[in-house]
Amino acid sequence: MKAIQIEAVGAPEVLQWQDIPELPEPAAGQARVKLFAAGLNYIDVYLRSGTYLHNFPLPTIPGLEGAGFVEAIGSGVETVKPGDRVAYYGVLGSYAEAINVPVDRLVPLPNDISFEQGAAFPLQGVTAQYLLHDYVALKPGTSVLIHAAAGGLGLLCVQWAKHLGAQVIGTVSTEAKAQAAYAVGADHVILYTQQDFVAETRRFTEGRGVDLVLDGVGKATFAGSLQVAATDGTVVSYGWSSGRPDLIAPTDLIGRSRRVAGADLANKAPTREILLQRANAVLEGIQAGWLQLQIDRVLPLSKAAKAHQLLESRASIGKILLKTHT
Ligand SMILES: NC(=O)c1ccc[n+]([C@@H]2O[C@H](COP(=O)([O-])OP(=O)(O)OC[C@H]3O[C@@H](n4cnc5c(N)ncnc54)[C@H](OP(=O)(O)O)[C@@H]3O)[C@@H](O)[C@H]2O)c1
Repeated sequence: MKAIQIEAVGAPEVLQWQDIPELPEPAAGQARVKLFAAGLNYIDVYLRSGTYLHNFPLPTIPGLEGAGFVEAIGSGVETVKPGDRVAYYGVLGSYAEAINVPVDRLVPLPNDISFEQGAAFPLQGVTAQYLLHDYVALKPGTSVLIHAAAGGLGLLCVQWAKHLGAQVIGTVSTEAKAQAAYAVGADHVILYTQQDFVAETRRFTEGRGVDLVLDGVGKATFAGSLQVAATDGTVVSYGWSSGRPDLIAPTDLIGRSRRVAGADLANKAPTREILLQRANAVLEGIQAGWLQLQIDRVLPLSKAAKAHQLLESRASIGKILLKTHT
């Protein structure tokens, strides 16, 4: 079958379009999923470039989410059957025509959700769900600052925070991205490449700062994120698209009783039950219409290197998908 493989970490060119052996039959507890689309995530850039948090073997097939239908099941599998439409995240290898996945990672796809939507929602949707629920109880009268608000994850977080009734401030690098964040409900958008986001956030909150800062940008923003956290406010650090942030001392947090939390999706759905609760909350939002998936573009799987260049060069608004089957 066809897949994108990397034999060494490095620039996007290490993503090689290759013929690889057909998959073995699914093992006990696994299903083979014929993939129609794979979602691109900034985590794929960390993995490809060698800055990923978790270890992985080389050569490897990148990609951490996809959607398609079940082709075959291993022994003992009762929760899915061949022909079922499914999506998943968190198993490496979606830049391929098919993958064997432990069935406890599979989310059934409702018929009104396309395979493209199915590949676009799991990783970033479940991340948005946990980021907006697990740290600060957002409600009317609370406020949140969301960095990279027009990214794949950012646009979902803006919509989710608005749905909960919070005041939403976003940061983005371009006017086009600002328009995209406003279009999904942001109250204020700051061009953080041109404006001082600390001063602007304080201005929008009448000097108070925000209850929650969502920071997946890292080096360029983290110090400022701490400054704009309100008294008792929380900064959640979940990524570093601009590089790893500088270290801080615990004593830096004493003034104004602020908190910093680390957040890794890998720990957030340890059981099938929790995974389905979180994923179904995302699907319900999509079906109800208050959560919209914005697909920036769909490229053929063979163009994975081009897709990485677009994501890394900050050219995308919303989600990039790879089409793994026609
Ligand atoms: N820990 C978790 O559970 C978890 C799960 C999912 C995602 N994440 C993290 O969430 C963040 C967003 O992920 P995503 O997949 O949705 O990506 P994304 O936001 O679509 O793309 C990354 C964005 O980061 C911004 N950025 C700022 N400085 C940058 C730089 N020097 N180089 C590249 N980009 C820069 C860009 O937005 P502007 O152009 O507007 O600055 C860019 O579009 C990433 O850090 C990712 O690792 C974490």
